[in-house]
Amino acid sequence: MGRWALDDIPWAQFDFSRLDPEIVKIVKAAALVEYNGGAYAHHLCRVFYDDPEFQANARRWGEEEIRHGEALGRWAELADPEFDFGAAFVRFRQGFRIDFDSGVSRRGSRCGEMVARCIVETGTSSYYSALRDSVREPVLREICRNIAADEIRHYKLFYRTLLSYSESEPIGLWRRLSIAFGRLAESQDDELAYAYFAANESARTYDRRRHGRAYARRAYAVYREPHIAHSVKMIFKAVGLAGNGRFSRIAARLAWAAFRRRAIHLARLAA
Ligand SMILES: [Fe+2]
Ligand SMILES: [Fe+2]
Repeated sequence: MGRWALDDIPWAQFDFSRLDPEIVKIVKAAALVEYNGGAYAHHLCRVFYDDPEFQANARRWGEEEIRHGEALGRWAELADPEFDFGAAFVRFRQGFRIDFDSGVSRRGSRCGEMVARCIVETGTSSYYSALRDSVREPVLREICRNIAADEIRHYKLFYRTLLSYSESEPIGLWRRLSIAFGRLAESQDDELAYAYFAANESARTYDRRRHGRAYARRAYAVYREPHIAHSVKMIFKAVGLAGNGRFSRIAARLAWAAFRRRAIHLARLAA
């Protein structure tokens, strides 16, 4: 892991004329969430307390998530010189707290934890792939290209770990499905909504619903069908189902239809 550094990003190519202010807002929010991601590595090291090899990988993973936050934050400061990434991150951490010190996975087992991490990396890899394919500003496109490649590797790390623990600590299909759906539902929770608020609207009062929708409306707009289809394949694989089967293709079509409906609904609410 760790295949690029901040200095590898072609910052001098930043092109103000190709900025989309809607994208700048969601990049600021994503920067805060990513920069906070490293704290989760500590939790994973506690859950896998007797596996030094995984712990080393988890620490590297955490460092990469922090780098994602740094790159996006630096870009957001170029795009909006009034944006103070450090101050926004302090606001985010003050308002959004998770117990990273627990040594017990919320998913009930190590394999459950790995299924949940695979779902998160599926979400981030599809999001940065969708951003990479939709933004016009060349520096952001390069940052997203690098991050999307990292997120795929993160998925592979957690998937490999899931497989390696599946024999000694097996979990069944229904449990995997319930963890996967539970984690997907959590993507609607406070984290992104609060990050959007802390990055863009901190002079106002936090409103989970309003700020959640404000983030989602802008984020949903960048996705295209192949990004959702690829996510469905990755989710199927993480829960132990065939990612290339007929059932997966049907699920991908249904997921895209549901996604589009939600995107249109959010756009109408804002109109
Ligand atoms: Fe990331
Ligand atoms: Fe990641």
